[in-house]
Amino acid sequence: MSDNLPTEAHAPSSVNHVVFNVADIEESHDFWTRIIGFTHVGSLDNNPNFRFYAGRVDGEIVSHHDLALVQSEEVTKPEGEWSMRPSRLGANHIAITWPTREAWLHQVEWLRLNDIKFHVRLDHGMTHSVYVSDPNGIGIEVLYEVPEEIWMNNIHEGLNYAARIDTPEDQPIQDNVDYKVFSS
Ligand SMILES: [Fe+2]
Repeated sequence: MSDNLPTEAHAPSSVNHVVFNVADIEESHDFWTRIIGFTHVGSLDNNPNFRFYAGRVDGEIVSHHDLALVQSEEVTKPEGEWSMRPSRLGANHIAITWPTREAWLHQVEWLRLNDIKFHVRLDHGMTHSVYVSDPNGIGIEVLYEVPEEIWMNNIHEGLNYAARIDTPEDQPIQDNVDYKVFSS
């Protein structure tokens, strides 16, 4: 036995990508590209229904992939509508970052124009977030990050903060930048 064997885990830097099993690849491809805005960057040579997608910053692709979708005939869609309350095992939701507040406002308006249901909208302390779901009932948090100095000194308090925001259908989308500061 080597003396150099690890005695604890090494901290990862972040989540790299997620892979979703989907019932209908064309339905999910349309949602994740046209509605959410990811770019299709490639597929498996031996399975065109296993596809990879990446986001962009300033128009440029900045990762090999953030998301993959694979069609599976064996999977069944979950029953009922997505909810923040735990109702199934596995992922509750995935959160996707838009690069700026302006980009996020654009995207939220685009979702509304496409009749994507807002399950809930929150000022989440560290983020401003709209929760939607994909055709397979996967929860998606559409967010932008508020400036780091708002939450960095008290992440615990930020994590516990959630103020519900209404988005009246007949009014432009408002977003309050009077961010609550979480201090130690
Ligand atoms: Fe979240």
